[in-house]
Amino acid sequence: MWEDLEVTVEKSPEAARKAKPAPDTLGFGKYFTDHMFMMVWNKELGWHDIKIKPYQQFTLDPAAMVFHYGQAIFEGMKAYREEDGQMFLFRPKDNFERMNRSAARLCMPRFPVDKMAQWLKAFVYLERDWVPTAPGSSLYIRPTMIGVTPALGVKPAAEYYFYIIASPVGAYYAEGFNPTRIYVSDEQARAAKGGVGNVKVSGNYAASLYTEEVAKKAGYTQVLWLDACEHRFCEEVGTSNIFFVVGDELITPPLDGTILPGITRDSVIKLAESWGVQVKQRQISIDEVFAASKNGQLQEAFATGTAAVISPVGELAFKDDVYPINNGKVGELAQRLYNELQAIQHGRAADPFKWVVRVG
Ligand code: COI
Repeated sequence: MWEDLEVTVEKSPEAARKAKPAPDTLGFGKYFTDHMFMMVWNKELGWHDIKIKPYQQFTLDPAAMVFHYGQAIFEGMKAYREEDGQMFLFRPKDNFERMNRSAARLCMPRFPVDKMAQWLKAFVYLERDWVPTAPGSSLYIRPTMIGVTPALGVKPAAEYYFYIIASPVGAYYAEGFNPTRIYVSDEQARAAKGGVGNVKVSGNYAASLYTEEVAKKAGYTQVLWLDACEHRFCEEVGTSNIFFVVGDELITPPLDGTILPGITRDSVIKLAESWGVQVKQRQISIDEVFAASKNGQLQEAFATGTAAVISPVGELAFKDDVYPINNGKVGELAQRLYNELQAIQHGRAADPFKWVVRVG
């Protein structure tokens, strides 16, 4: 059935196209391109009305279920462009497969990954002039699915919108690639086992806002979340996965149901292992991190994510104590991973894992 699905393309008139922002003003997620992708699902028709069309608002009934019961999932991915016009996507099918897992968890409909990857290429090609080329910049792509049926009974919606919007971006953090200062929270938690911490549902991000505001008011960039049960084990940092270099090991928390299986996390593990680095996916308690900081074994910490790429951590703060990492400087491994990932994503380096998909 899915084989027959086709997308129609309605181009925005040239005169209606927006001015492109200057490369040094991009920030993150402030500007949106001229087009969007959108399709609709219901039981009778499945996915239908599949369109790439001018970027536009849509109206929803105030009773739309997404507003009340939070059936909303999303993904984050990027397109990269070289000065010569070549463009690349990074592991797009992995994002779409993860989105289907998020959909299953929230009783939302699945979609065809191969078709979606083709439609995404067509969308990015149409928006090619929006893909920035300045170092560290890219076109951030945001696939989103929401339940839109107007009804107040608590049950899965009967109709869904799936849409993709895109935004030219620079660094996610104001610090850019400079090390961030991170606040460790043992009061609120991000996710508990059996919950939805391992899928990309919008509510996870709403639940993180309170503690992030506390951290920001105290002068920190992000929160390091600990496990919900004992408030001991490191889980994620802000919207990203977390890695620590302790002694000669690269350690990251395991995928045990409460953290997001990041595509960048997986890429970092595979790259580091291919360089002979010992990577351990294991629980690491905050006490172990602080002890390693005190005895000089903690050499680096960094966060990984599509938006954040590789984001070195220069300091951890917990209650009244501050633990500097690598004297607040970018670590050697973080720098090497950042350089190599960027080179692969831009099609400038060999791609032994076949992660990169050429557009156009
Ligand atoms: C991403 O890294 O793509 C994310 O989804 C983080 C986002 C919430 C900014």
